[in-house]
Amino acid sequence: MKKIIIANWKMQLNRVESLELAKEIKKRVKNSQAEIVVCPDFLVLADVSKILKSSPIKIGSQDCAFLDKGALTGEVSPNNLKELGVEYVLIGHSERRSQMSESGIIINKKIKAALRSDLVSVLCVGESLSEKEAGKTKKVLLSQLKEALSGVDSIKKNNLIIAYEPIWAIGTGVTINPKIANEIHGFLVDQVYKISNKKVNVIYGGSVNEMNYINFLCQDKISGLLVGGASLKADSFIKLI
Ligand code: PGA
Repeated sequence: MKKIIIANWKMQLNRVESLELAKEIKKRVKNSQAEIVVCPDFLVLADVSKILKSSPIKIGSQDCAFLDKGALTGEVSPNNLKELGVEYVLIGHSERRSQMSESGIIINKKIKAALRSDLVSVLCVGESLSEKEAGKTKKVLLSQLKEALSGVDSIKKNNLIIAYEPIWAIGTGVTINPKIANEIHGFLVDQVYKISNKKVNVIYGGSVNEMNYINFLCQDKISGLLVGGASLKADSFIKLI
């Protein structure tokens, strides 16, 4: 099975840098064993999508609205994203949960909206350091899954991906032991199966770089990577794919 490698550019690049990075990646990736997705910010999505059109690289957005259309000032419709050529959408990233107060209810609505628009939802889940230290990792993950997937009845194998991102590993340079991550990925696959009767892919994110990525990709339950910092330079990103 193809591994899924998703680049999350967050809000780290300006317009010129984003377009240059997209062009550079396109030039250097003619074909790949992996499914590669880049998630630029909304402002450059259309242009990055044009650049990557005739390449094997897919486009994702970092978020979407929880409605297809309506009076939602400042939001971006998943339908409009789809029209731009977007195929994937990150939902419930921990930075949105913590800094934009995004609740489980909103995340659930976003998953439903994304699926209605035929986008692949990449649902991000993960525990904080204090939750990990209190031995609550699986409890937290299960509750995030149950909230996000409540009443979602259109899950197929290929329209939902879970990204396991321990919050304490994001942007810190600290990673989880890959064997422990593998065990947690197995747990997440099983729990999604119990909820939806579908077997989905679970990818890992949190301080992945060219030195450590292979330790994750060689685990049998880890179907790919969600990469922040190491996806911002073509040189480091290319090494992961
Ligand atoms: P990082 O970010 O690779 O910089 O830790 C990952 C993410 O937040 O998706």
